[in-house]
Amino acid sequence: MKTFRRQLLAVAALGLTLGATALTPALAADKPLVLGFSQVGAESEWRTANTNSIKDAAKQAGITLKFADAQQKQENQVKAIRSFIAQKVDVIAFSPVVETGWDTVLREAKAANIPVILTDRAVKVSDPSLYVTFIGSDFVEEGRKAGKWAVEWAKKNAPTGDVNIVELQGTVGSAPAIDRKKGFEEAIQADPRLKILRSQSGDFTRAKGKEVMEAFLKAKDKKIQLLFAHNDDMAIGAIQAIEEAGMKPVKDIAIVSIDGVRGAFEAMVAGKLNVTIECNPLLGPQLMQLAKDVKAGKQLPKRITTEEGVFTADVAAQELPKRKY
Ligand code: AHR
Repeated sequence: MKTFRRQLLAVAALGLTLGATALTPALAADKPLVLGFSQVGAESEWRTANTNSIKDAAKQAGITLKFADAQQKQENQVKAIRSFIAQKVDVIAFSPVVETGWDTVLREAKAANIPVILTDRAVKVSDPSLYVTFIGSDFVEEGRKAGKWAVEWAKKNAPTGDVNIVELQGTVGSAPAIDRKKGFEEAIQADPRLKILRSQSGDFTRAKGKEVMEAFLKAKDKKIQLLFAHNDDMAIGAIQAIEEAGMKPVKDIAIVSIDGVRGAFEAMVAGKLNVTIECNPLLGPQLMQLAKDVKAGKQLPKRITTEEGVFTADVAAQELPKRKY
């Protein structure tokens, strides 16, 4: 009888232990992490690849993703971030459409103790502690690579006289538009003959890239020798404008653009684009790891920069089948 009572007590003690364990942080941490992500929009092939990478990686990592598309509007991103705060998500990540104007909403996230990760595009804020880390490309370096290519192109193809360049900029006020312009202008200083004749925003879209290139071509005051497009989509739109104006891209106007999307490789294989500078959109897996790390209280570097290459038309056919976006 004594043994039976002892057994009963042991079972009761085990029950209490299990009950208590159910409330410990170790088991609470098994709850899927909730990540609120505010995306810029769906303006380009690059952006679509970036969105797919984030959605796929969240699934793979067992993270519950709350995804909001801001349709290229800052006010929509601010609304999305506020809604993530109200929903008490574990981590907020976003790719900011423009660089400035984030202080207030990021202070609200900080006050709610929700860590913020920046992906793809950086912000300018008065207090760097308003975000934990940034993961993305070095846009100034991408602009430099494009500029260096333009200088080399001019050396071989226009050895004398001015080299007239037109520039299709990305979204006004966005980090890639500001930084790529800066890097390009810095690099072309190596040859003072290279001059930016006209520069206007095509908002990173094919339609706007085509529209602005049409306007550039209509001006007809000076012969355009080279186009620098801040992304492949605008370059592809501009290629259409050049062809519709009865000219040949590459032959009549050399084209350098940024991203390295499949569409750019196809254009190079078709002989319509000279070169694309890679900007890697496949940030999903790294973002999910960072979200987990930040939640686990790990110390993270303030900036994580992705490695990227340069692809010229002569390697396009061989590279195209290997492209992941
Ligand atoms: O922020 C990255 C840029 O945004 C890409 O170069 C462009 O295609 C996209 O829209």
